[in-house]
Amino acid sequence: MSETVKLSIEDKTYELPVIEGSENEKAIDISKLRSQTGYITIDTGFKNTGSTTSGITFLDGEKGILRYRGYPIEQLAEKANFLEVSYLLIYGDLPTKIEYEAFKENITNHTLIHEDMRIFLDAYPTKAHPMGILSAAVCTLSTFYPESQKQNRSVEAIDLTIQRLLAKLPTLAAWAYKNSIGHPVNYPKNKYNYCENFLQMMFAMPAFEYEPDPVIVDALNKLLILHADHEQNCSASTVRIVGSSQANLYASISSGVSALWGPLHGGANQAVIGMLEKIMNDGGGLSKWINKAKDKNDSFRLMGFGHRVYKNFDPRAKIIKKAADDVLEKLGIVDPVLDIAKELEEVVLNDEYFQSRGLYPNVDFYSGIIYRALGIPTEMFTVMFAMGRLPGWIAQWKEMMEDNQPIGRPRQIYTGETERNYTSIEQR
Ligand code: SDX
Repeated sequence: MSETVKLSIEDKTYELPVIEGSENEKAIDISKLRSQTGYITIDTGFKNTGSTTSGITFLDGEKGILRYRGYPIEQLAEKANFLEVSYLLIYGDLPTKIEYEAFKENITNHTLIHEDMRIFLDAYPTKAHPMGILSAAVCTLSTFYPESQKQNRSVEAIDLTIQRLLAKLPTLAAWAYKNSIGHPVNYPKNKYNYCENFLQMMFAMPAFEYEPDPVIVDALNKLLILHADHEQNCSASTVRIVGSSQANLYASISSGVSALWGPLHGGANQAVIGMLEKIMNDGGGLSKWINKAKDKNDSFRLMGFGHRVYKNFDPRAKIIKKAADDVLEKLGIVDPVLDIAKELEEVVLNDEYFQSRGLYPNVDFYSGIIYRALGIPTEMFTVMFAMGRLPGWIAQWKEMMEDNQPIGRPRQIYTGETERNYTSIEQR
C-alpha cells in the first residue's frame, strides 16, 4: 500500500498519493486534485512544486550535494572529460571506450556549419550580444535540417540531432564572437579535441599560429562539466515545456539559451564581473554595496550570491573558487577582481542578513574570473554557460519525450474584472 496524505476541504477529506524518489524525497501527487476537489494549487515561481520525476541529476540543497546520474560532481570535475559527461547525462551511463570513441568521432565530424550561416551571422550588428545570436542561430539550425522538425522521429534521427547540436554549438559560439569583433572566423579542425577546437576557433588569427594552452584547456573542460546540468532550473524547465509541445530539439534548446540569458540565471556570471568591477572602480569599499544589497528599496543585489536550492553552499562554487586560484597562478595572472570577490564572500559569510537567508556564492560567482583569465570576453560568459549546459538541456528534453509527458499547460486563478458589457467608444 503506497503512502498517502489526507486533505480536508470543507466537510470532506481526500486521500492524496505520496511518491518517494530514490533519495527519499517525497511529493504529494496532486494530478487528480482538481477533478476530485475543484481546487488547484498555486505556487508562484514553483518554489515548492515539482514538475516531473527525473533520473538525470540529484541535488541536495541543504548538504550541498550535486550528482549527475549518481556520480558526484567533485569526481567528474576532477577526472572526466566534458564529452564523457555529456554522454553520461544524455544516455544514462558513462560510455565504454568504444562508445566514447564513436560519440567523439560523430561529434568531431559534425562541427562544421552550413556556409549560409555565415550570411546569417554577418547580418547582425557588430555589437550584437552573442546570446541573442546564439539563441537565433540554434533555432535556425532546424531550417537546415527539416527532417528534425518531423514528429515521431527515429532514435537514430534524434541521436544525429544531438550530435549536430553538441558539435555545432562551439562553432556557432566562436563565430558569433569573431563576428562581434569584426575578425575572420576560424573553421573547426578535427585534430583538436572539443575544448581545444573551441579555443582555436575563438582565438586563432591568420597572422599567427595558435596552439591551445593545456592549462586553459583543462580549466575549460572543468567549467563545462560543472555547468552541464542542474535538474529543473529555469532554462531546463523552459526546454522541457517548449519540447512538450512537440517542438523540435533545436527550437527547444534555443528557448533554453534565451531563458539562461537572464541576469537572475545564467546571465549572472556576466553581471558578477560587472558588479565586482563597479565595486573596484568605486574604491573597493564593500559596506556601501552590502547595505545596498540589504535595502529593500534598492534594486541592487549581490550577483553571484543566493540560490533557489542551495542554502548552505553551492558545491560548484567551491570547486570553481579553487580552480580560479590554480588557473591564475599557473597563468601568472594577478586579477584584483578576484581579491575583491574573496573579500566580498568573507563579508557575506559573516553577515547575519545573508546567512539568515541562506545566501552563499553560487556557480556564477567565481566562474567569470576564470573565463577572464582564459581570455574569454565578458559578453561571452553566458555563452560559455550555455555550451556547458547543452548536454543537460538535451538530457532533460530526451527524458521528457521518452516519458511521453503531456504538453505543459499550468492552470491559474483569475483575479481580473468579472463579466461586463461592451460599450461604444462614444459612451466611454
Ligand atoms: C543560476 O536554479 C538553478 O539551478 C540555477 C543555476 C543552474 O545551474 O541552472 O544554479 C544557475 O542561475 C545561479 C543563480 C544566479 N543568479 C544570481 O546570482 C542572481 C542573484 N541571486 C538572486 O537573484 C537569487 O538569489 C536567486 C534568483 C538566485 C534565487 O532567488 P529566490 O530563490 O527566488 O530567492 P528570493 O529572491 O526569494 O530571495 C530570498 C531572500 C529575499 O529577501 P527577503 O524578501 O526574504 O527579505 O534573499 C534575498 C531576497 O531579497 N536575496 C538576496 C539575493 N538573493 C536573494 N539579497 C541580496 N543579494 C542577492 N543575491
